[in-house]
Amino acid sequence: MSDQADKLRRIVERLTNTEEPKKSEQKKEAARVITVTSGKGGVGKTNITVNLAIVLSKMGYKVAILDVDFGFANVDVMLGISTKYTLLELIRGERTIFEVLTDGPNNIQFLSGGSGVEELIQLDRRQIGKFISSISLLDKLYDVILIDTGAGLSKNVMSFILAADEVLLVTTPEPTAITDAYAMIKMISKKDKHKVVKVVVNKAESYKEANDILDKLFMVSDRFLSFKLQKTGYILEDDCIPKAVKQQKPFCLSYPKSHASHQITELAMNLFQNNDSINKSNVYGKGMRGFFNRLLSNYGLQH
Ligand SMILES: Nc1ncnc2c1ncn2[C@@H]1O[C@H](COP(=O)(O)OP(=O)(O)O)[C@@H](O)[C@H]1O
Ligand SMILES: [Mg+2]
Repeated sequence: MSDQADKLRRIVERLTNTEEPKKSEQKKEAARVITVTSGKGGVGKTNITVNLAIVLSKMGYKVAILDVDFGFANVDVMLGISTKYTLLELIRGERTIFEVLTDGPNNIQFLSGGSGVEELIQLDRRQIGKFISSISLLDKLYDVILIDTGAGLSKNVMSFILAADEVLLVTTPEPTAITDAYAMIKMISKKDKHKVVKVVVNKAESYKEANDILDKLFMVSDRFLSFKLQKTGYILEDDCIPKAVKQQKPFCLSYPKSHASHQITELAMNLFQNNDSINKSNVYGKGMRGFFNRLLSNYGLQH
């Protein structure tokens, strides 16, 4: 087991112990689970997820990324770090939660989904129960879990959206991306009228262009779907992003003074200023436990 895995295990042992935990390790009830998604592909989800994770970590939150964009090399490639194990080994009971988490920069960790979810829905009740209790440890370890999904309206992506406490929907100014974002908002509003959807415009040419798109999306969703979006932020087109991607280093670390780095910090602050939407508890429970319980119930599974 790696040093990190060992360290995480000790933290959990302390948290589940009766002894008083240290302030920095005080038990949290649940992690805040945010699914990052888009209607169209290539709009900047993975860049936003990775850099947001690092900025939040710098702000003092403990952050992990769950990468569930199946079939595409993503978070690991963007960080230039290869993973040894995926969610699959956890589901199969071959590895512990500590072993499937990989260290990223600035004290963040990430977990590659692999083909985990397909396997998850094949499990029996007892195996699901075991999986839920190990994944629930993430609620003790992390303040925030960012889930990087694929694009589009597939059953898989929709189930990650519906299971999360809140959704960060990314679009670009391209008409095709805006139309696909609207199609996704329409689908979400049909399935869950109360889902918190926060919109980010990426690759805009100007603040005005980004703002106009946020206004337009807000207006049409309100008028035609009676669904209130939250306008959350924007990142302008910035050459440092493709450069950082080529270097396999997050832009907020390789170009900390860039406009994009300032804008992702603003985005993080917008997301974390207003905390009233987080950790909604219901029959499924909160945080990661609630997330996976809801996910499985979407597939008709319960434990
Ligand atoms: N604000 C931006 N300015 C310039 N290029 C960007 C910006 N955001 C993303 N990109 C580029 O767009 C491409 C897709 O980004 P990525 O984060 O992989 O999208 P997704 O995860 O939605 O498929 C990358 O090559 C990246 O360099
Ligand atoms: Mg991606």
